[in-house]
Amino acid sequence: TIKGKDLWLRMTETSNYKGIVLAGGAGSRLYPLTKVISKQLLPIYNRPMIYYPLSILINAKIKDILIITTPEDQENFKKLLGDGSQWGVKLNYSVQEKPEGIAQSLIIADKWLKSNPVVLILGDNLFFGPNLFSKIGKAINENVGATIFGYHVDDPERYGVLELDAGNNVLSIVEKPDNPASNWIATGLYIYDSNASGYARNLKKSDRGELEITELNNVYLRNNDLKAMLFDKEFSWLDTGTHETLLEASNFVKDIEEKSDRKVADLLIL
Ligand code: G1P
Repeated sequence: TIKGKDLWLRMTETSNYKGIVLAGGAGSRLYPLTKVISKQLLPIYNRPMIYYPLSILINAKIKDILIITTPEDQENFKKLLGDGSQWGVKLNYSVQEKPEGIAQSLIIADKWLKSNPVVLILGDNLFFGPNLFSKIGKAINENVGATIFGYHVDDPERYGVLELDAGNNVLSIVEKPDNPASNWIATGLYIYDSNASGYARNLKKSDRGELEITELNNVYLRNNDLKAMLFDKEFSWLDTGTHETLLEASNFVKDIEEKSDRKVADLLIL
C-alpha cells in the first residue's frame, strides 16, 4: 500500500484550490534594504525570498496562483517569476494599493478566485520540515472551512496567538496580545473554503488600520469551522522581519543545502 508522502507525490489530479502569495507591505523594519526593493525580493541565501512560499504552493500541487504586490514592485516580480510556465503553473498578478491587511488579499482576489477555495501564504514566511509538502497537501484535501498552521515560539506577543484546549482544538485567536494565552501562534499559511472573500468583506479595520487575518479566522472559529494543524519541533518556521532573522534564514538554508539531504527539509525546486 502507498501511504503518506508517496501517495501525495503520486496524486496527479489537481484540486480546485487556487493559491495566493501576498507580497505587499513596506518592509519598514528592514530599511534601508527595502527602500528601493521589495522585502520579498531580498535574498535568502541563494534565492529571492518569495521563491520559498511560492514553492510551498507549487509543491502542494496548486496550479493557479495570484501574486499580490505593491503597485511599485509588480514589474520586478513579473520580471523575476514570469508566467509560471517554467514551473508548470499559471502565475497571475494583482496589486494591493496600501498595506491594509492580510485579509484584504482575499477581497482583491475575489473575482479571480471565481468561488474556488484557496491557500493563502505570506511572501515572507519560510517553512521547512520533514514531509512538509505532503502534510500541507493532506491538510488541503481534508479542509472543511478553514485550516491554519500553528507553531511554537518564544515571543508569541508578536503574532496571532492560539488558545488551545487539551485536544489542541482552537478556543480563541488574539492578534498580538499583551498576555498571550499560549506560545502557539498562527503562521502565515491559511487554507480557506470559498467563503473567505465574502467574510473578509464584512470585516472592520483594526486599530492599526488593517483587515486582520486573525479576525477572518475568528469568523470561521465562531462558525465551528476552523482547524489548526500544529507544526512540531521537527519543523522550522522562519520569520524574516528583522535584519537578524533575515540573516538567520540565509544561514539556515545554507546549512540545509550543504550539510544534509535537502529533502530532509523538503527544500525543493524553484
Ligand atoms: C501577521 C498576522 C499574524 C501572524 C503573522 C505570521 O502578522 O497578523 O496573525 O501570526 O502574520 O507571520 P503581521 O506580519 O501583520 O504583524
